[in-house]
Amino acid sequence: MNAIPNNIGLEAKAPLARQLGAYQQQFRRWWALRGPGEFLDQPMQLRQPTGQVQGNGWAEYRTMTPNQYCWGLFTAPTGQDTIAFGQHRGAPLWESVPAEYRVLLLEHIRVQGDVENAAIEQSRTLTGSVPSQLELNNLFQFYLEEGRHTWAMVHLLIEYFGHDGTVEAEALLERVSGDAHQPRLLDAFNLQTDDWLSHFMWCFLADRVGKYQIQAVTQCAFAPLARSAKFMMFEEPLHIGFGAAGLERILCRSAEATLRADSHDIFDAGAIPLPLFQKYLNFWVSRIFDLFGNDSSRRAHDLYQGGIRIARHFDDYQHMPVTLDVRAGAGVRQEEVAPEWAMNAIMRRQYMAEVAKLIERWNVQLARLETGIALYLPHERFNRVFGPCKGLLYDVDGSALGPDAAAQVGARLPTAAELARVQALMRRELRPERFASWIAPAGATLTALADAFIAEHSPKCGPRA
Ligand SMILES: [Fe+2]
Ligand SMILES: [Fe+2]
Repeated sequence: MNAIPNNIGLEAKAPLARQLGAYQQQFRRWWALRGPGEFLDQPMQLRQPTGQVQGNGWAEYRTMTPNQYCWGLFTAPTGQDTIAFGQHRGAPLWESVPAEYRVLLLEHIRVQGDVENAAIEQSRTLTGSVPSQLELNNLFQFYLEEGRHTWAMVHLLIEYFGHDGTVEAEALLERVSGDAHQPRLLDAFNLQTDDWLSHFMWCFLADRVGKYQIQAVTQCAFAPLARSAKFMMFEEPLHIGFGAAGLERILCRSAEATLRADSHDIFDAGAIPLPLFQKYLNFWVSRIFDLFGNDSSRRAHDLYQGGIRIARHFDDYQHMPVTLDVRAGAGVRQEEVAPEWAMNAIMRRQYMAEVAKLIERWNVQLARLETGIALYLPHERFNRVFGPCKGLLYDVDGSALGPDAAAQVGARLPTAAELARVQALMRRELRPERFASWIAPAGATLTALADAFIAEHSPKCGPRA
């Protein structure tokens, strides 16, 4: 057993340290079976927490192999000493689990733990098609930190939930992403992100949901969860950043190839067609919207009233009903719902506004590049398998489609043939300073590409006098 790095005073909690030590062995067996199967002895620059939480010193980069990384337990102070919202507002924070909130908290923590391990499983084969040394390093940073997030939840389960918590911690190692018999708890985490465009979309979109979900419990009345979440918030932006930069570099490469070929048919040039990039976005956005849960939700209401989970800027929504879709026969109608019940929808709409703004930034540059493509965020009704629009046919702009329009919806999504062509494009490239054909080198941006394009195509100065 290796010592577990921590800033939670584990040394003074011998029974807990013993239990976590036993769990460490089970976790390492899971990692060997379900985690990445190669590069575990390759030295990389990996970020590891220091245990300090003041300033920027919370983590440091070290050259180490993934096998040398040790998952640790870290928390950050919340600066809060009373319950911030809900029916217990102003009362002291909880350092143990109150009986009346035990079921709600246990469910919340086990789901959060489940998604972390699932994210490793669903992307484990990506080492086989890694486009550069940089991406290899980033992929392992992602794997190791998602694993650390599992540990953050395992700590809470084992320290605060007794036997039930230990059972749930073990179940995190038994469910398997995509497994027919023991799937992961949330549908989107049973999809495989087995090509790099999907993985970057995942980091850009799903890790951003993670940021929203984790942020929502940083003021939690159950103080140990708030402190763990506060620390996880340090780590999540890097994962989102991997996705954002990866997608932008794909767009750079695709835009360049489009201009050179004067066509969107650029697979043969080793690049991903821009219309297919949009289809991937349509697919992943529609699956990832589901991760916010039911638009109108009793659980979300109870979590709020209990002082456990709250959307950002929730005070701005007080006493303002939220208009939501509710199922009405073979369609939907609108209904006004009190904000405490619509917490999931509020969070998802905040998220949609954030993502739409980022897509707009790409569009400004794609327009300067004259690619003929403007990307968009599909409507919250499009292609949903969860919630009021489940199984109904809507277009990407939210307009209702007739019952025979399945092909029209299908045309907005990647086909099996297109997925296969993307897979075929993605060959491992690990030579120093080299990048696979379908992605621009590290640091490439659409703004720099558009600046260069305009400089090249702007009319030259007139003849000298
Ligand atoms: Fe995570
Ligand atoms: Fe993450």
